[in-house]
Amino acid sequence: MHQAGHESTQDVVVELQDAVLTITLNRPAKKNALTDAMYGTLADAIGRADSDAAVRVVLLRAEGDLFSAGNDLADFSRLAEQIAGSTADQANTELAVAATTESAEPAGPSGPASGITGQMNVWRFLHALAACTTPIVAAVQGKAVGVGTTMLLHADYVVLAEGAQLITPFVDLALVPEAASTLLLPQRIGHVRAFAMFALAEPLAAEDAVATGLANRVVPAEALQDTARQVAAALAAKPAGSLTATKRLMRDAEALGPVIDREVAVFTERLAGPEAREAFAAFAERRSPDFSPFS
Ligand code: COA
Repeated sequence: MHQAGHESTQDVVVELQDAVLTITLNRPAKKNALTDAMYGTLADAIGRADSDAAVRVVLLRAEGDLFSAGNDLADFSRLAEQIAGSTADQANTELAVAATTESAEPAGPSGPASGITGQMNVWRFLHALAACTTPIVAAVQGKAVGVGTTMLLHADYVVLAEGAQLITPFVDLALVPEAASTLLLPQRIGHVRAFAMFALAEPLAAEDAVATGLANRVVPAEALQDTARQVAAALAAKPAGSLTATKRLMRDAEALGPVIDREVAVFTERLAGPEAREAFAAFAERRSPDFSPFS
């Protein structure tokens, strides 16, 4: 078994066997909520899939009762504090510079907030995913929340277990969608359905995900992993050059990077705002958020 360069951690297990690189989200006690460290492992694994000729297919799966609860909300909360602190420091520095120089430079388009987020592994992961030319098969059980769903928009074959639900509660968290989903989701399922998913957190049931073109098939839960493995094995037996060339032709990968960056800029702004902090506090305290004090 070729393992060189494919690093596993406890929370993300990466295994290469028979030309299939299996990436397993393995943090079931926290519903596979994704931390910055996990995004780092994911980014490396996806990035290396393309550069390692021994990898012909990526299989994305998860341990536990649900695929992923999305981004770790404690991480979001910490990041929000960090951005707020950094923005205050930057504002003080700009005031000091303006006071001591004759003509202070106007602030550039990439402020301190986008600087912090730009260094985070999540954005490295999203760019790697959007650029990936190796076919990606995904096996999804239970809920796929937030980035748990938006990452599926970059998969090429999606198998859902019966009862699976795709949920994108970005507005409920006072955030905006990411992973180029503002482009890809309306493109795939139409504006009004995408809007309802983003703005009202309307879950998309497994059968509807297949009907609207977000997934290939729904299978009984006990058949999920075998089905996904069989699809991955079938793809691994195809001529790899044709496969990646087909994927390349089917996707305008170059258009996705700028969309991801635009989303990141707005996402970062929202993340540091008071409404998002209220949403994260409400989750931690297991209560409903109250957005009424904010205009
Ligand atoms: N970030 C951090 N921790 C999370 C998490 C997240 N996104 N989702 C779940 N967890 C943690 C819970 O805090 C809990 O931890 P604890 O046992 O230490 O208290 C544990 O995972 C189990 O979660 P719980 O809510 O009890 O499981 P559930 O099966 O009742 O519900 C979810 C599962 C996914 C529906 C629910 O946890 C949820 O809504 N999570 C938030 C999803 C979200 O908004 N993600 C961000 C999208 S952008």
